[in-house]
Amino acid sequence: MLNLLKNKHILLGITGSIAAYRMPDLIRQLQAKGAKVKVIMTKGAQAFITPLTFSALTGHPVYTDVFHFYSEHPIIHLDLARWADIFVIAPASADVIAKLAQGMANDLLTSTALGCSRPILVCPSMNPNMYFKPAVQANLRRLTQNGFYVMQPAKGKLACGTEGQGRLPAIEDIIARIEMFFFPQDLRRYKILVTAGPTQEAIDPVRFITNRSSGKMGFAIAKLAAARGAEVILVSGPTQLRPPYGVNFISITTTQEMKEAVFECYPEVDAVIMAAAVADFRPRYTPQKIKKADGLALYLEKTEDILSLLGQYKRHQLLVGFAAETGDPLAEAKRKLEQKRLDLIIANDVTQPGAGFGTETNQVTLIYRNGVRECWPLMYKEEVAMRLLDRIKGLLCRMC
Ligand code: CTP
Repeated sequence: MLNLLKNKHILLGITGSIAAYRMPDLIRQLQAKGAKVKVIMTKGAQAFITPLTFSALTGHPVYTDVFHFYSEHPIIHLDLARWADIFVIAPASADVIAKLAQGMANDLLTSTALGCSRPILVCPSMNPNMYFKPAVQANLRRLTQNGFYVMQPAKGKLACGTEGQGRLPAIEDIIARIEMFFFPQDLRRYKILVTAGPTQEAIDPVRFITNRSSGKMGFAIAKLAAARGAEVILVSGPTQLRPPYGVNFISITTTQEMKEAVFECYPEVDAVIMAAAVADFRPRYTPQKIKKADGLALYLEKTEDILSLLGQYKRHQLLVGFAAETGDPLAEAKRKLEQKRLDLIIANDVTQPGAGFGTETNQVTLIYRNGVRECWPLMYKEEVAMRLLDRIKGLLCRMC
């Protein structure tokens, strides 16, 4: 798996918000990715959760007082600022946001922020009324103007019982945002459309046909393209996966819906990566549930081939297809590359161990339009996605 956070120093500043109770989980997940974490807590944070919890988790003292002598960091606010590769303030209360916006330094957290020349990520978390108060919004704008990074809070039910925007984002999203600081932002200039998952075609109101695609490959590509700075649209059929952080997610069910969503974005994107396993056939739809006693014979008609259509209407776009095969993957992939007017196709033999649907890994061969082939070893899908994006970047650079 990609290990961007390995040995990275993450300084976590916890402030007085109820979401402080979720920080042990954040720390454990960061540590699982190899990061080293140290914690600063404000007085308010200590009213919600004890420092002992965090010293036990991190193996370090929890830093709370700018005037205390900590032997491992004698000038505590500057030493911690220097130690950090990134300073994450989560949850960030309205009070701390106001202090940071003013450049105040009246406690350890704000003094460290002032002394820190590494990226500072602020994750506000508060009641929606507080969050949308003009003063708080003005402070957040000011933070952004002053070089802080601010993460939008999530929408949903809050601890205070209200619904709205103000929740601390999901831990996975905070981690994805932190990881972005360690990715090269080399796809920043590009807009990329990715499709993923299966499509479903209804037989009647309760039955449908579909395929075994899990969506993992397409989701990994979308996630990493966004992490590398691309503007990403992910059009996906039904999967068990949650949309990656930072992508514009469009959920569809049928091949027709996928086609419409894809063509709506097509004119403005630089590349299309069709990782979806699009249903090739659709039954004639019966509006009433078909009764068992009546028997069931399916007449299937062909769906449209979205990628072939994209090939026909291609202008500046780079087109990348996938070919999951059971027979002769390379010959079949080459045929599809030519027929669909693709720039690149990724072939895999789904009967090989570790390379089929739903697996965490994949073993692929890339075939370029000029006939060049690259055969990659078995890798995690995220690693395949990362390398694939390197190649796509190369092709995009050559096209412009
Ligand atoms: N594809 C598509 N629309 C379809 C079928 C496939 O856009 N109706 C895309 C897939 O997303 C993939 C590529 O075309 O990127 C190849 O898909 P695949 O299912 O391997 O091949 P098919 O074109 O369906 O051909 P065959 O059934 O002969 O294998």
